[in-house]
Amino acid sequence: MSDEYLTSYKDKTVVVTGGAGAVGSNLTKRLLELGAFVIVIDNLSSGYLWNLPNDSNLLFVKGDVANDIDVKRIFNEEPEIIFHLAAFFANQNSVDYPERDLQTNGFGTLKLLEYSKIYGRLQRFVYASSGCSIYPSDAEMPYVEELTTMYMTTPYQITKMLGELYCNYFIKVHNVPTVKARFFNSFGPGEVPGQYRNVIPNFIYWAKQKQRLPITGTGDETRDFTYVGDIVDGLIRMGFFEVAIGEEMNLAAGREIKISQLAEMVNEVTNNDSGIEFLPKRKWDTKSRMLASNKKAERLIGFKADPDFEKSLQLTVDWFDSNWDKIVDSADFPPGTSSAVRGK
Ligand SMILES: NC(=O)c1ccc[n+]([C@@H]2O[C@H](COP(=O)([O-])OP(=O)(O)OC[C@H]3O[C@@H](n4cnc5c(N)ncnc54)[C@H](O)[C@@H]3O)[C@@H](O)[C@H]2O)c1
Repeated sequence: MSDEYLTSYKDKTVVVTGGAGAVGSNLTKRLLELGAFVIVIDNLSSGYLWNLPNDSNLLFVKGDVANDIDVKRIFNEEPEIIFHLAAFFANQNSVDYPERDLQTNGFGTLKLLEYSKIYGRLQRFVYASSGCSIYPSDAEMPYVEELTTMYMTTPYQITKMLGELYCNYFIKVHNVPTVKARFFNSFGPGEVPGQYRNVIPNFIYWAKQKQRLPITGTGDETRDFTYVGDIVDGLIRMGFFEVAIGEEMNLAAGREIKISQLAEMVNEVTNNDSGIEFLPKRKWDTKSRMLASNKKAERLIGFKADPDFEKSLQLTVDWFDSNWDKIVDSADFPPGTSSAVRGK
């Protein structure tokens, strides 16, 4: 496939909801590099302004995707493409605060789609869905897109699925050109650690402080960790290729990594010899393995993930090294929890 999907973004007006977050900030930077005018709407509940560049082609709107005035403000800019990444993140957070989860992930997504319908001029509405929400715990692997579940174990899984259902409704009944991108365990520069964040930034954060790395479970659990740069490339392809409209696609590396192996690798790259500790499994965490097929995204939009996990992990550690003071200031852990916190 040619590079037309990259050049097509020059001078496009693109909205990134949640653009100050882990994936959104990487997407925003890439879109700016490609010459787009980018409008970020973010309430900064789990995103950070320092993660975004100063750029005359970037308009930052501090606002809420569930608020009419804020959403009108972004539609006034006449966007051609919306990447909807804002979310109440993630599983454990939603177990603790299910109503806030529904407000952003359910109501916020509905509001954006309602405005997209009325506005009627969008070329694409790309929705950030989640592999952990869509595929059942006992599904055969690798997961293929046709499999879905009705047995979800967290409110986040329910509301991310709800977002997909709204996308299906709005394309079928109102012709809003939706695409559903199912992310699998994104990691990379830009993700600030915190009690509700993913395992990789938290492991790096603790390892750099010479703490033992806590594993909730046996360590044999696997995840399909996917580098954020690859996810961003997949999103940019989804925003361009017409064949993506109406589809759901996994954006995944297509490779399983055991949590114990991950902990050892993180300890090694950070020279941490404090080892690991085992904590009880979280009740909602019923997926002992996660592995996704990325064949559909490869076939339809030419998506390919970099197979070199060690290189991507090193890039992530390098980002921690260069931004350490800001990361320590922003890391979102309740006082006194350090290595006892539970993660995403
Ligand atoms: N990171 C992953 O591993 C992963 C996996 C599957 C799916 N996803 C999905 O991808 C998207 C991006 O994930 P992320 O890791 O960048 O998360 P993130 O928490 O870093 O980013 C989400 C952003 O949305 C903002 N936000 C939250 N509520 C908002 C609201 N009501 N209005 C406006 N902004 C709001 C936050 O401040 C944050 O900047 C999310 O939709 C998430 O559900 C992520």
